[in-house]
Amino acid sequence: MNSLLLKKVLLSFSLSTALLLAGEQFSMSEADKAMYEELKENNPADMNVEEGMEIFEELGDEAALANFLEVDEKKLAEYIAGFPRYVKKMGNVVGLDQVLQALQVAQGQKKYDLSSEVMSSLLAYVKSLANEVAINIDVKANKEMEISFALGEKLYSEVRGYRGLSCNSCHSLPGTILRTQILPEMGAQNTGGTWPAYRMTLSTLVTLQERSRTCMRDAGQAPLPLGSKEMVALEVYITNLAKNNKHKVEIPGLKR
Ligand code: HEC
Repeated sequence: MNSLLLKKVLLSFSLSTALLLAGEQFSMSEADKAMYEELKENNPADMNVEEGMEIFEELGDEAALANFLEVDEKKLAEYIAGFPRYVKKMGNVVGLDQVLQALQVAQGQKKYDLSSEVMSSLLAYVKSLANEVAINIDVKANKEMEISFALGEKLYSEVRGYRGLSCNSCHSLPGTILRTQILPEMGAQNTGGTWPAYRMTLSTLVTLQERSRTCMRDAGQAPLPLGSKEMVALEVYITNLAKNNKHKVEIPGLKR
């Protein structure tokens, strides 16, 4: 087989695998739809948000976070709507959850694991302080953000893993239509502004990075570690898509 033909065969194979996988995940049964409508009225993750509020109070509330981040408390909500950000005292582009860990450490407490449910709850509450605020991530704010965005963009479109898929194979612009269903185009559906979200299929609160890891596993890719430079870069890229679509922060989301 010549290499061009081989490439074509491989490409059509990986695309059909992608669509198959995506179809399996995406088709919402009637029962799912009914549950979605019901939970929209009363998102079970509101309980996580409340738990997060209690934890945050113990950490000193908005005043402590604003002080830690060296921002005016009155501008804190707007600042939160711009994560992931380069935080100079942390020397990195970081997610809001990593800032909360640093705040815990600064107060002599043990930090929560990024994968723990308490951390997801805390993150959901603190991000919800920016509800209704327009997402304002600035991927050109400084060199560090530019580098992170470029890495996120590359990782999003780079084929990885044995199935030969990239994020873009399924989540492509302007939205792939599969058996009459539209696969999630992340900018249009405000992915950057709606996680942490309650996932009905898992009956639990899930962060954007955890959700992305599930897709990586499904796509045959080694999942990137939570909070890694690469994972944060993907979050930067995905959040910027939501900003380009003029979305606001809406926490907690509700997802299948
Ligand atoms: C094989 C196809 C496929 C690939 C490849 C894929 N995804 Fe997904 N992804 C899906 C489907 C399908 C959903 C929606 C599932 C649903 O609605 O239940 C989804 C949902 C998501 C969501 C939640 C979107 C929202 O707001 O509800 C995120 C975040 C996500 N994917 C991240 C990624 C990332 C990051 C990559 C690349 C590392 C990736 N996905 C690769 C199929 C894929």
